[in-house]
Amino acid sequence: MYDGGPHLGRNDECWCGSGRKYKKCHADFDERLEALANAGEEVPPRSLLKTPEDIAGVKRSAAVNIGVLDYVAEHIAPGVTTEQIDQWVHDYTFEHGAIPAPLDYEGFPKSVCTSVNEVVCHGIPDPDQVLAAGDIVNVDCSTIKDGYFSDSSRMFMIGEVSPEAAELVKVTKEAVEVGLAAVKPWRHLGDIGAAINKFAKAHGYSVVREFGGHGIGLEFHEEPFVSFVTRAGTGPILVPGLMFTIEPMINMGKHRIDMSDPNGWTVRTADGKLTAQWEVQIVVTDEGYELLSW
Ligand code: MF3
Ligand code: CO
Repeated sequence: MYDGGPHLGRNDECWCGSGRKYKKCHADFDERLEALANAGEEVPPRSLLKTPEDIAGVKRSAAVNIGVLDYVAEHIAPGVTTEQIDQWVHDYTFEHGAIPAPLDYEGFPKSVCTSVNEVVCHGIPDPDQVLAAGDIVNVDCSTIKDGYFSDSSRMFMIGEVSPEAAELVKVTKEAVEVGLAAVKPWRHLGDIGAAINKFAKAHGYSVVREFGGHGIGLEFHEEPFVSFVTRAGTGPILVPGLMFTIEPMINMGKHRIDMSDPNGWTVRTADGKLTAQWEVQIVVTDEGYELLSW
């Protein structure tokens, strides 16, 4: 096979774990993948394609992930510190039998990323950082339950925010919806980024290039990298079973970022202007996609 997997006889048991004969299960599917690979397309290896059992596991993880963000949504307010958000995420996640994926991930010191105003991503919760009316903050929660990963983030507007900030938050959420509308099985991953980039630019914004979405499910970050500045018709084929996040970071000013913070994590806009991000996790299906966490 195109991915180095073994060639199965038609009466062999299918590789997918269904227990059915290959010819009654994934034989036609694999033929389609092989033909695309032979035609020069980038085809994800079958090891990345999630089984119904994997998807069920991710959904149990996502139930906690969504619950954490709902909890944050209910409690976030002016005067709350980003450290308190970290405590909520930490406690809620463990109380629900799960683990916050960021904790100790490549040395990340907290359970959640809190990215305020000009912080693009990977903001570290801090007891001295008090949220005030007018701030916009991304809370990015990633959850491990029974070995399955879920990952989503939302923007929160603290008290009354400027019309410009509210517009950025709204348009960035709409950009995720525009990206979702471009998820079509057997088409290309690049269609998503092309749609998002065009939409952001039409609003006078720019899209961060260095960070993007990622495959997810059995690991925190799997292939493929999901860029939001791609060309349509390029990149991997959106094969049913492929699971990944859509999480554009959209800047009010220029796309350039500043990664010079000595803590090694916090990423800021180079021009100091506001930035926003929403993140959802999906799996490609035969009909389109299924939303897993948001
Ligand atoms: N949650 C981020 C993502 O969407 C990853 C954060 S890595 C961390 O991929 F270590 F900073 F948590
Ligand atoms: Co992510």
